[in-house]
Amino acid sequence: MDSLLDFTGKVALITGAASGFGELLAAELGTRGAKLVISDINAEGVAKVGEALKAKGIELVASACDVSKESDCQAQVDLAVKTFGGLDIAVNNAGIAPAQMSLVDTTEAMMDQQFNVNVKGVFFGMKHQIPAMQEAGIILNVASMAGLGGAPKVTSYAAAKHAVVGLTKTAAVEYARKGIRVNAICPFFTLTPMVTGNNMNPGGNVEELEAFLGRGSPMKRLGRPQEIVNVMLMTLSPGNTYMNGQTIAIDGGVSAF
Ligand SMILES: NC(=O)c1ccc[n+]([C@@H]2O[C@H](COP(=O)([O-])OP(=O)(O)OC[C@H]3O[C@@H](n4cnc5c(N)ncnc54)[C@H](O)[C@@H]3O)[C@@H](O)[C@H]2O)c1
Repeated sequence: MDSLLDFTGKVALITGAASGFGELLAAELGTRGAKLVISDINAEGVAKVGEALKAKGIELVASACDVSKESDCQAQVDLAVKTFGGLDIAVNNAGIAPAQMSLVDTTEAMMDQQFNVNVKGVFFGMKHQIPAMQEAGIILNVASMAGLGGAPKVTSYAAAKHAVVGLTKTAAVEYARKGIRVNAICPFFTLTPMVTGNNMNPGGNVEELEAFLGRGSPMKRLGRPQEIVNVMLMTLSPGNTYMNGQTIAIDGGVSAF
């Protein structure tokens, strides 16, 4: 295996692994030798993913975790240490998108939900992952293009993902001396269930949705899950040892306008 993509023996924790980026990343890291601690609020979904990966010979534990609860986030780290003896890689990926509406229609409850899951989930994750990473570790937080610029009709999501960027940069500068690097990815719309599902695509027509959402993109299309996960792998690569505190746009050039 090319050493740049060889994760043999690394212990990798991934939240939100029952679907989308998390599910695909688990398979990619696992087939490259990582031992996995995967979780999701969807207990049945992550168990199914776990069984499918185990059938391919991947070593893992799969369990339920609601990232908005600190005790659940701590339990995931404890599980990594107890099962595999430590933690090398953590991917704080779990997240939710709100219903689309204007800022003035956005409710406090929506704001609370976004901050409880998308912000506190990353905060609780890092708070417990960092002490478990003994001498070196890498954390990848999943932010969004909505964390780098304005995102009309998803005020609460944009606010939450900007907060993820702030958490990422702060942890990166605070823990670099301990050998822990922290980066974030910031994808544009990508065809995972978050985007193709009912919430964002009530008509159920993915081609129409892509034409509509992709019209403002230089590439005139949305991202594919594999395209995002490939970049996640690159940022986690054992060869990527000097990147720290970065927010990587994966957006077909949208941010270049
Ligand atoms: N798909 C996109 O266009 C896009 C773009 C930018 C950023 N993102 C971000 O990527 C991440 C992954 O999303 P995805 O596109 O793979 O969507 P997805 O809906 O396919 O997967 C998200 C997973 O997170 C889980 N989850 C939701 N709430 C949770 C909680 N409280 N605790 C634990 N797990 C929880 C869900 O059950 C689901 O399995 C999210 O943080 C999302 O905001 C997605």
